[in-house]
Parts: sequence; C-alpha cells; structure tokens
Amino acid sequence: MKSQGLVGVVGAGYVGIATATVLASWGLATVLVENNPDRFALLGERRIPFFEPELEKVLVEVAESGTLRFSRTLEDLADADVVLVCVGTPPTATGALDLMALEQVVERLVEVARRGAVIVIKSTVPPGTTTRLAGVVATRRPDLPLVSCPEFLQEGSCLDDVRRPSRVVVGGADATACRKVAALFAPGGAPVIITDATSAELVKYGANAFPATKISFVNELSHFCDLVGADVTVVAAGIGADPRIGPAFLRAGLGFGGSCFPKDVHALEDLGASLGYQSLLLKACSEINAQQKDRVVAKIRDALGGTLRGRRVAVLGVAFKPGTDDLRQAPALDVVGKLIAEGALVAATDPVAAPGPPELPREATFVADVYRCIEGADALLLATEWPEYRSLDWERVRSLMHGNVIVDGRNFLDGVRLVELRFDYHGVGRPALSRPTSRSDDAAGPGPAR
Ligand code: UDX
Repeated sequence: MKSQGLVGVVGAGYVGIATATVLASWGLATVLVENNPDRFALLGERRIPFFEPELEKVLVEVAESGTLRFSRTLEDLADADVVLVCVGTPPTATGALDLMALEQVVERLVEVARRGAVIVIKSTVPPGTTTRLAGVVATRRPDLPLVSCPEFLQEGSCLDDVRRPSRVVVGGADATACRKVAALFAPGGAPVIITDATSAELVKYGANAFPATKISFVNELSHFCDLVGADVTVVAAGIGADPRIGPAFLRAGLGFGGSCFPKDVHALEDLGASLGYQSLLLKACSEINAQQKDRVVAKIRDALGGTLRGRRVAVLGVAFKPGTDDLRQAPALDVVGKLIAEGALVAATDPVAAPGPPELPREATFVADVYRCIEGADALLLATEWPEYRSLDWERVRSLMHGNVIVDGRNFLDGVRLVELRFDYHGVGRPALSRPTSRSDDAAGPGPAR
C-alpha cells in the first residue's frame, strides 16, 4: 500500500463510492470526499444513498477496517498521491453538460494538492475537457498532471464492474502519471490502454453510444417485426448468435434510460454539432428510443379499444432497469406521463424505487404493493423487468384486474401461460396472443389476437 500512498476520491455517487470501496478493499488507504451534508451523514452511518446491496456490504467492511475514510473537505486530500474526481456532470436545461462541480474540484485541488499529485478525471466529460483543464492547471501548478480514466460500471453490478473491469483506459500527456493510475487498478487484472486524454474521453462516449445504438437497432427491427408478424426475441437471438454482433444489448422494448445512455448519446451528437458535423446515426438512435414509448402507449390504447380516457392502467416497475432504484430518464416515467396526457388513470409500483413528485406526475398514484396497484386495472404494463414480476401469482392478478390486457414493455413475461389464464398478451415486436373465444377454437389453444 505504501508504494501507492493515499488515494483521494471525490464525489459519493455510483462511480465514486464503488471506486473508493474497491480501492480500499485492495488495501489502499482511501479517503472519499463528499460535500453534500446528507450524503456525508449517510456515509458516516456506513450507508450508501442508492440501492446497491453488495456495494454497501463491502463499504461497511472497509470503513470498519479504517482503510476507507470519509471527509467533507478537499483539504483532507492534501497528502493524496492520486485524486480521482468522480463528481456528477448532469445535463443542463439546454442539454449541455454542467461541468461546474468538476471545475470547482479541480480549482480547489490546485490549491491543496501535494507536489506531483495526479488528478484523474473519472467523471464523463466531453472529449477535450481534460486537456483543456490540464492547460488551465499548468499555468499555476505545472507539477500536477491531469489524466482521464473513464469508468464503465453499470448500476446493479457496480462493485464487480470496478473489481473486474473489462479494460482500464487511461489518457493524458504525462505517461508516468498514466502508468501510476493504471497501476492503481492492476489488482483487477484488466488489459490496460494508455492513450491521450481526448481519445480516452471518446472511448467512454463510444462505449455508451454503441450499445445504445444496438438497442435502438433492435427496437427498429421490432417495428419491422410488428409490421410483418415476426417475433423480435427470435430475430434478436438469431442475429446475436453471430459472433460479429453478439447477444448483449439486443433486448427490444421500451428503450434505454438511466443516467448515461440518453445523456451521452445526446452529448456526443451535440459535440458533433458544435464542430459542424450532424450525426445522423446518433440522432436516429435517440429518436427511435423516444418512439418506443409512443409505440407502447399505442399498444395499450389499441388493446383498450382506441382510447385511454378514464381507463385504469397499472404500471409495473418504474426504475430505469431492474436491480436499481435509479429513476433518471426511466422509460416507465415517460410512459406514465403519456398515459396521463391521454386521460388514463395510472397506478405505478416498483419493488425498490419509491417515486413521488416531481418524478412521478401528481395525477399518478404510487402503490408499493404490486397486487394493490393492479386492483381494478383495465390494462397492465410491464415497464421494468424485475424478476419478481415473472413469478407473480397471475391467477390472483387476473381476479384483481377489471380487464385482461397485458402489455409487456420488455418482452419478459410468459405470454403463452398468461393467455392460458385468459389474459390478452401484447409484447413489443411480436405477435399479440389471446385465447380464442369459441369452443372449437379453444381446443386449438392460444392464437394471435384478433
Ligand atoms: C450504462 C453502461 O452500460 C455503462 O457501461 C456506463 O458506465 C453507464 O451506462 P447503466 O446505465 O447502469 O450502464 O445501464 P445498462 O445496464 O447499460 O442499461 C441501460 C438501459 O438500456 C436500461 O434502461 C436498460 O433497460 C436498457 N436496455 C439494456 C435495453 O433496453 N435493452 C437491452 O438489451 C439492454
């Protein structure tokens, strides 16, 4: 540990907490700095401000062992050899990124950092930012190298993603500083790519824009499937089996949400626009993603006979994906807003997230108990594929609902079984299923709806 000295991590979000916890678990003395009083108080109680049970467990261990400490001020990083800046870079109302928190941290580090300390930008920033900030820092503290080391963690698996990353990318003008940062993550055993800061920053955007585009691509195919009566889950399995394509991120449905994909696709498109380049691909990626929500609303409307006015819709799952309580850019919330705009009466539920206004529109109700949420519903929308929703007591659901329409926004439920229970089942990009009504048809089992 002594060879690395003290490590500072700034910002107790997903990236900061996961990174600090993992570095501490590898035996590095680490200080996590968080200036938000509520978040800081929570860390003092060995708790984290979001749902990541595994991460919290290890944080408790390293905090109790004293390897990880918490602080509210950057002054406590005066002895750090390396400082990893993991503060948020949220989008502003115009869509541009707000780099204020990041710039303030760098500014303060210029005042307090020890001689030769390496400042690492882990926050996602537009390509060119680290080089620009390095230029500013160099005018006052030429001894402080700045490097970019983007994070690739996914919510729900933060801990493992930092412990065993697929690669470590470090970019900067000072090769020694880059190697020092790469060495921090050596216990993870990942291949290392050392490059310039702007290329490293662009790796991050590319690594998010590509899977986002893959999702929009499969969602585009799901549209074709609806038009020609094919099943996108089979089509996706068929194309994903090609090793050049791969099966990951080919699940059609309500589209991507979260704090990264929507923001980063827009940011990259905006970067192009600011440089005089219109990215047709990224524009289409975002537009297809938006279109998916309208398509699912149309499916519910059609299944309910052409209008949503006064109809009750139960929305299962509001988190942007299972395994997290994060509501940022959650497709479910977007859909709830659209349903309400068309006059539907919406009740939503989630096993972990508990949204209130402003995330959830005031007109919608949140009901923690899934069965109470479903009571009296004309239609049920599966918006987030929490595993527990697959194993609901569907007979009970059928008896609680007023109607029998299920729209599976994630192609997650067992449609054939649901039809046996007299539901009408509608997926995304696959033929709808309903139970034939006549006795003779009955013998033939479930068939395509209408
Ligand atoms: C993402 C990146 O994967 C990660 O590398 C980056 O560091 C941060 O952004 P995360 O936001 O945690 O991670 O979510 P991810 O699991 O990638 O899913 C993003 C969204 O895509 C979710 O809304 C998910 O429901 C959706 N998705 C994912 C699909 O619609 N279809 C798929 O096949 C996969």
